[in-house]
Amino acid sequence: MGILAGKVAIVTGSGGGIGREHALALSAAGAALVINDLGGTRDGTGGGHSMADAVVEEIRKAGGTAVANYDSVATVAGGQGILKSALDAFGRVDVLVNNAGILRDKTLAKMEEGEWDAVIAVHLKGVYCVTRPVFQKMREQTGGGSIINTSSTSGLEGNFGQTNYGAAKAGIAGFTRCLALEGQKFGIRVNAIAPVALTRMTEDLPLAQNEAFKERMHPRHIAPLIVYLASDLAKDVTKKIFFVGGGQISEMRMVRTQGATKKEGVWTPDEIAAQIGTILG
Ligand code: NAI
Repeated sequence: MGILAGKVAIVTGSGGGIGREHALALSAAGAALVINDLGGTRDGTGGGHSMADAVVEEIRKAGGTAVANYDSVATVAGGQGILKSALDAFGRVDVLVNNAGILRDKTLAKMEEGEWDAVIAVHLKGVYCVTRPVFQKMREQTGGGSIINTSSTSGLEGNFGQTNYGAAKAGIAGFTRCLALEGQKFGIRVNAIAPVALTRMTEDLPLAQNEAFKERMHPRHIAPLIVYLASDLAKDVTKKIFFVGGGQISEMRMVRTQGATKKEGVWTPDEIAAQIGTILG
């Protein structure tokens, strides 16, 4: 029996890319799946059923259990609809992987309000819209749960031309740390990953055509961490953010330096300048 036998998992945006691999791996570990995908293009325009349906079909052919959901994560109604699909088909929810995402890359000087809003809506608001009803259901069920969000090095370390995406992804990291505290007394664990993989989202990278690199950076290298975090193997792991990709798994941490303390009075700018080396650590 798989380590997730009897568990129900929702993976948003699992009609392709990284999410599809998460879903296949969770299914192989025994979970019943809700395959959510709006089915649009990389920038979030359009939509359709074929992406989610194809993954459901793939899981069923392999002997697993899955249903499709086509709601957008970016609305409260969509989030509720995604939970409803899990409850209608399986009666409960144990695992939520917030993975859906889009890109509208531009430098800030060229970024219009629409490009800002669309990315914040799918990533940051989307995590709120789906997680809130699922979190409430997990509380009601009283059996705990595992929520895994998708952040990015773009937000945690910075990336040129992605202020909208980076802001959303850093916001998701903050959401993760705060909700982990709220989930603690209910046994609901909340973690995040910052993945790196070759998908349609990263297909423009120059190295994306190299065969060895393609294999190394295949999204299947990310899925085992999701299965681990979803399972009781990770029962004490919460409030963590993992870098994962290309075979590497590491923890990403916020660091506060020892700094410098002025014991009395208020710092002057000149004193800060004199101590800046110590403050930066
Ligand atoms: P992808 O474009 O292949 O997958 C994203 C999926 O989300 C698509 O199937 C898309 O249809 C779906 N989606 C988009 N908007 C949606 C909405 N409103 N509601 C429901 N589904 C929606 O891209 P990839 O690379 O698989 O990305 C997965 C996640 O990983 C995203 O959150 C992305 O930001 C994140 N990520 C990916 C990295 C990479 O190296 N590929 C790096 C860092 C983060």
